Amino acid sequence: MELEIQTLAYGGRGVARRGGEVWFVSGALPGERVVAAEERRRRGIVEARVVDVLSCSSWREPEPCPKALGACGGCDFAHVAIGFREKAYKVALFGALRGAPESLAQAVAKAVFVPSPWYYRLRGRLHWAPEAGQLGFFASSSHRVADLGGCRVLSQELLALLPAWAQCLQRAGVPAGELEFLEDVAAKRRLLLFRGAFSGHLPRLPGVDGFWGLRGRGWGERELILELPLPLAVPVGAFVQGNRFLLSAIWNTVAAVVREGGFLRVLDLYGGVGFLAAAAQAGGAQEVTVVEVSKRAAQAARANLPQARVLPMPAEVAVGQGALGGASLLILDPPRGGLSPAVRQAVASSQASAVLYISCDAACLARDAWLLQSGGFAVRWAKLFDLFAGTHHVELAVLFQRA
Ligand SMILES: C[S@@+](CC[C@H](N)C(=O)[O-])C[C@H]1O[C@@H](n2cnc3c(N)ncnc32)[C@H](O)[C@@H]1O
Repeated sequence: MELEIQTLAYGGRGVARRGGEVWFVSGALPGERVVAAEERRRRGIVEARVVDVLSCSSWREPEPCPKALGACGGCDFAHVAIGFREKAYKVALFGALRGAPESLAQAVAKAVFVPSPWYYRLRGRLHWAPEAGQLGFFASSSHRVADLGGCRVLSQELLALLPAWAQCLQRAGVPAGELEFLEDVAAKRRLLLFRGAFSGHLPRLPGVDGFWGLRGRGWGERELILELPLPLAVPVGAFVQGNRFLLSAIWNTVAAVVREGGFLRVLDLYGGVGFLAAAAQAGGAQEVTVVEVSKRAAQAARANLPQARVLPMPAEVAVGQGALGGASLLILDPPRGGLSPAVRQAVASSQASAVLYISCDAACLARDAWLLQSGGFAVRWAKLFDLFAGTHHVELAVLFQRA
């Protein structure tokens, strides 16, 4: 089917209208004329993928990863040239923010964009397929593990180790599962966690400083020290921002918000191992509280930030116990689903003078922004971080402030 692509939908696919139907075409860019192959059709919505580009957008990457959009499902935005990523994200976000307060949509349209080079991933999950002897990401819409040769998001050091790891895993009889990796910023040290049903001893792998199973069996170290830019210990399996090149940009943004706002009491409600809270301390915060539901991450936060108060509990419980009281700045970096109703309500009616909301899902941010606005918070600015370069995902930081 030949189609004219009009815009990008949230999720990154090109949108075309034809005969009363709306087509969502992966791999297509606004202004292009493409040949698309239908994949699914339901109630006037057709999902499709590009099979040929008849007239090409200037946004198109001339030499995309040959495995993107098919052979490997890792990067669904590899066809967007580096210099046009900002435009592409903003067009796609426009759709997601259609239902958001106008001030948020305007701030995102004007947002500063922080780009990322390739080879950025310091954390991730690879699938292990023993029958194929393959370690990698799944191919698009499939459970077949793709060959990662030439991948542009993993470090080249990690890529070079994969064939030897596959051999060792096969020899040790490790069954199918997921291999979670954590590398340091310089890609010199790395830890692995195996997620799968294996009660044997995990093999020693070259270039790996520790390899653990979910049941606790393994060898070596369980934590890496990441220079973020202060040293922070991160246990394998705990959350940490996954882009080695943008950690300092996020750190500097948080520290600047704290410094410029003169915020002395800061509450980080989804604190992980304490990365953003540490940046807040570096910016001059004197009383810092970290709330984190994962016990291991909370333990690490306590060790990383000995002067901070760490509450190892769900944000919902912490706000119920009055954790928001007294904080002048709230840092909110929730998981993809955004804030739960209880947290949203508590934040909107808190006494805080500002909220720094860091979001990887603009649709949830849009929903939460309404309640913040009803609680008297106004959007000051937004910033986009290209944390997941090569994919349609982008991280948004938004500062809300009371007048
Ligand atoms: C997106 S990460 C942010 C971590 C941290 N801000 C950082 O930059 O490293 C979200 C964190 O929230 C934690 N989390 C998820 N649900 C939670 C909840 N209901 N209450 C508190 N923490 C939660 C996760 O374990 C994870 O560490």
